[in-house]
Amino acid sequence: MNPSKGTRLVRLHRTQRTAFPRLLGSLLLVTAAGISSVGAAPGGQAAGSGPATAASPRPLGQTVPAPAEAKPGGSPYTITAGTRIRVEDGSREARKIGDYLAGVLRPSTGYALPVTGRGGDGIRLRIDSHDSASGAEGYTLKSNRGSVTITARGPAGLFHGVQTLRQLLPADVEKNSRQKGPWEVAGGTVKDAPRYAYRSAMLDVSRHFFSVAEVKRYIDQLALYKMNKLHLHLSDDQGWRIAIDSWPRLATYGGQTEVGGGAGGYYTKNDYKEIVRYASSRYLEVVPEIDLPGHTNAALASYAELNCNGVAPPLYTGTNVGFSSLCVPKALTYDFVDDVVRELAALTPGKYLHIGGDEAHSTSHEDYVAFMDKAQAIVGKYGKTVIGWHQLTGGTPVKGAVAQYWGYDQTGAAERKQVADAAVNGTKLVLSPADRSYLDMKYDKDTKLGLAWAGYVSVQRSYDWNPAAYLDGAPEGSILGVEAPLWSETLTNSDEIEQMAFPRLPGVAELGWSPASTHDWDAYKVRLGAQGPRLSALGVNYYRAPQVPWAAQ
Ligand code: ACM
Repeated sequence: MNPSKGTRLVRLHRTQRTAFPRLLGSLLLVTAAGISSVGAAPGGQAAGSGPATAASPRPLGQTVPAPAEAKPGGSPYTITAGTRIRVEDGSREARKIGDYLAGVLRPSTGYALPVTGRGGDGIRLRIDSHDSASGAEGYTLKSNRGSVTITARGPAGLFHGVQTLRQLLPADVEKNSRQKGPWEVAGGTVKDAPRYAYRSAMLDVSRHFFSVAEVKRYIDQLALYKMNKLHLHLSDDQGWRIAIDSWPRLATYGGQTEVGGGAGGYYTKNDYKEIVRYASSRYLEVVPEIDLPGHTNAALASYAELNCNGVAPPLYTGTNVGFSSLCVPKALTYDFVDDVVRELAALTPGKYLHIGGDEAHSTSHEDYVAFMDKAQAIVGKYGKTVIGWHQLTGGTPVKGAVAQYWGYDQTGAAERKQVADAAVNGTKLVLSPADRSYLDMKYDKDTKLGLAWAGYVSVQRSYDWNPAAYLDGAPEGSILGVEAPLWSETLTNSDEIEQMAFPRLPGVAELGWSPASTHDWDAYKVRLGAQGPRLSALGVNYYRAPQVPWAAQ
């Protein structure tokens, strides 16, 4: 077996790039310009005009993601020492969202901001189960002299509305110490709901391990941009990161290193539950991934009997891919998969379980298909919906399965067609094109962190594509949403995560949330530039990409 055979570097197809992305961008610009109510510059500010001054309220609609509809008008609302956060329906979830908002606003405003019941002016949070307009995650925000009212059909919508409110306030509101204000919210109405139901970020905790605190920090950043899934890549050749009681050495042995030979680590079941709980408090669902049948060296190293030859390989701390495979003919392999899926499913309240399926270069096609059939059945047995990387479509995706596309714009026609055909046959798709949405790709040749096997991915490139039109032949309704994966071969801490994720992650979040009619790089880059002071206030170590007109701090 030649470990370098499967290395990502041989998959580089950069030279096949064409001018297509730029052409797509300008077509979208024309579309956006032709739609006036939302348009390229929500909030009525001309595209390309500079950010608002600190003294004036931030224009309604200048948030990231752009809202579906923003109608500025009337007097601004000002948060003062007397402001109350009124939870109008008294539900526990609405109350928690009120407490969360108070937690954001109190340190910087220095105000008490009591969270109270209904009646009177202030910041009003209202769940109205009859509000059919807003859908499961939508909301309406109305702001005038007396109040800001956020109404939603359910708590997720209310929470997303609160993120909009945050972004309408000055960036200083994010700081942890008392700031000057004034705390004005522009007058008018925002009506908003997401374009896609699946808006995900993936964190690879295998190549390098990240602590629960580091994962929570990322969750908070995802919530600000209305992402609703956190995909955790929990196992790979370099480390197994989740405790499984029936196979304890997976974590205690297979989790004890990482790329470069560091100490690694793993989540206890309680750690994982705490991540799930925290994500859920930010309205994100955790999608756990156990990558199978390849990317399994850490498991094979932990249990000799999982190997076809009965010999455990050493732990691996390099960055090659495609050299490991579970032993497809062995019955024990499926006891193993069953135990892992059963325990992980029991820990995971969300609907999905990701079984990988990518880069199985050391598994024959026949074995791959046989294995994926059995693994999918096991996921179904424990009540979860299968997600797999798009190679799953080379086998037989079960009914209801989701395939995650991670090819390039220029991935070969046959492979793209295989995915599109599966979509025609009912497989839903999550799009995470490697040369668009992979946050670990270098921005350009000078980027210190990250890899470049899918090419350089500038901020504009990561934003300037249209999920609905991306994969020829895939029906529009087959697109469940988008994901921004972050592989961690080169990343070891939150600072490094943030340097690669920001500012590209907000662009993918916007592709997932905002209507296609708002898509316009020239308008987007101004809204993104206005996020600079907010990210700074939050202590996010973002890359000050020269493509973006960053607002003064
Ligand atoms: C992948 O990047 N191997 C899914």
